[in-house]
Amino acid sequence: MTRVLIAYATTFGNTEKMANAVANGAKSVEETEVILKLATDVTQADVRVADAIILGSPVRHRNADSRIQMLIENVFEQLWLTDEMVGKVGGVFTVGGGYGNMGAGCELAQLGMMGAMAAGGMVLVTFPKTTPGFQVAGMHWGPAARSGGLAMEPVGITDEMTRAGWHHGANVARVAAALQNQDLFARGNIAPSPEAQAMFAQMARAAQQRDESTPPPAMG
Ligand SMILES: Cc1cc2nc3c(=O)[nH]c(=O)nc-3n(C[C@H](O)[C@H](O)[C@H](O)COP(=O)(O)O)c2cc1C
Repeated sequence: MTRVLIAYATTFGNTEKMANAVANGAKSVEETEVILKLATDVTQADVRVADAIILGSPVRHRNADSRIQMLIENVFEQLWLTDEMVGKVGGVFTVGGGYGNMGAGCELAQLGMMGAMAAGGMVLVTFPKTTPGFQVAGMHWGPAARSGGLAMEPVGITDEMTRAGWHHGANVARVAAALQNQDLFARGNIAPSPEAQAMFAQMARAAQQRDESTPPPAMG
């Protein structure tokens, strides 16, 4: 059984719709278990047992949403330190609104998430232009859907965009299945000291406490 964790954030529901399509695509691959979770609910244990991780973010002020960033800083970073991300398969997708004819920041958001995955030693699945739906949600790194019209009116994402997400989920699940239980990466470099690891864990705990004591910002 291959385990695919899909972690996303959403405020208006479009990224959730895309996440569901990605999940259905992953589930279409035989012997695949899909765990679909809000990024804020993902634990270290969820990431540890996952063979593949797909991050889905709304585009927020030209970058990934802070809830995804919190997951990267508070969960991924600790597992980066202990080298537990090495060899896992990764993928990303975004939903932006944009203003004018460009979905501003989706590429930066995707590359930011992929950067964190690359740092962990993950095998990254990109998004070929052969994929159905690429013409409306195409970005080289992962599907990039857009929920806003030219004047920022909230029109919502289309079925063609979710089709791109479905195929991306299936692609990631197939790659994860092919690589499962294969130890492909060289090891032997000296891990950071226990003191450094304790420092990172302390930082993650402090950030989590700060987050829990701050009410979520109002969004309109
Ligand atoms: C405060 C705020 C900032 C945003 N910044 C961007 C942005 O920089 N680029 C972009 O393409 N869309 C931006 N959007 C649009 C959202 O990405 C879009 O509404 C998306 O559908 C949000 O995901 P959700 O529907 O899952 O909540 C922004 C929206 C809000 C509310």
